[in-house]
Amino acid sequence: MAADLIARLLELKGQAPSIPFPGDERELDALRVKYLGKSGIIPLLSREMAGLPKEQKPEAGKLLQEVRAAVETIINNATHKLKVEKIQKDIDGEFFDITLPGAEPSFGARHPLTAVMDEIAGIFTGMGFQIEEGPEVESDYYNFEALNFPPDHPARDMQDTFHLPDVKRLLRTHTSPVQPRAMERYGPPLSVLAPGKVYRCDSDVTHSPVFHQVEGFTIDRKVTMGDLKGTLQTFIHRLYGPKTNVRLRPSFFPFVEPGAELDVSCIICGGKGCRVCKNTGWLEVLGAGMIHPNVLKSGNIDPDTWSGFAFGMGIERLAMLKYGVDDIRLFYENDMRFLRQF
Ligand code: PHE
Repeated sequence: MAADLIARLLELKGQAPSIPFPGDERELDALRVKYLGKSGIIPLLSREMAGLPKEQKPEAGKLLQEVRAAVETIINNATHKLKVEKIQKDIDGEFFDITLPGAEPSFGARHPLTAVMDEIAGIFTGMGFQIEEGPEVESDYYNFEALNFPPDHPARDMQDTFHLPDVKRLLRTHTSPVQPRAMERYGPPLSVLAPGKVYRCDSDVTHSPVFHQVEGFTIDRKVTMGDLKGTLQTFIHRLYGPKTNVRLRPSFFPFVEPGAELDVSCIICGGKGCRVCKNTGWLEVLGAGMIHPNVLKSGNIDPDTWSGFAFGMGIERLAMLKYGVDDIRLFYENDMRFLRQF
């Protein structure tokens, strides 16, 4: 029995070189099952080996390993050869038409609000303003108190302001809180431009609950209303062209005194009167004024030595006028047909 097993192993080893090389997947599988499968030749012999006398085991074990290695070599070579043949066949069957037009890449572009924002920032940095940003989640102190809002001022009303559950926190309703923040941080003299998102409970074709503003202000010795007007006029001429007329109208904001609103001659009709300017020939574009002494004091600046002007404007409104867009929501829907036009 033992001698028989060794004889059979020797015979198998002798036959190994003449095992036919598998020509396809099916033959390869058959070979694998025949020799290595659960009841294949090699596992069977391996089980038989358990009954061999101890001294014959090494020889039988060695023979079995040689047979296994020979079979595995054939299987590995065949697997590799079939794989290479398949790849070649796929390549041969492929047709590459170099006359087909390529897929045109679609390029992104700056969002119109970003473009207007960048243009405004470029104009003011050219006049020496530094860019500052403040937090969108703001304290009641910076959004209202430091800006001279009396405790019962209507702008603090729940209708306008998004209050956070923490009573002292809110979403800033304007970029003006950057004024006292920058004053505290840098001290005078100072020229700051503060762009950013602001939030108000308001929503229709010209109002969005989140929109963008730019705040600007200059503090120095002897800054006057004339400096304010000159700065804004230069800005408007750069943005809308030198033919645009500007005028300041008295207005009120708690953080400026005197306060004003800046109108520009209607850029749609040139001042003749149209639907956009409601036949007045003028468009209101921003709020401005001389920084209130109380605000300077909140920013640790002595109002007897220093004075300043400030202005704030809505970017969406400027962009709507510049591009003739009549629905603010178009800026936020990211419809490619809209965005591609800029
Ligand atoms: N913060 C004001 C607003 O949101 C605009 C403004 C800024 C007015 C600075 C005057 C001075 O309407």
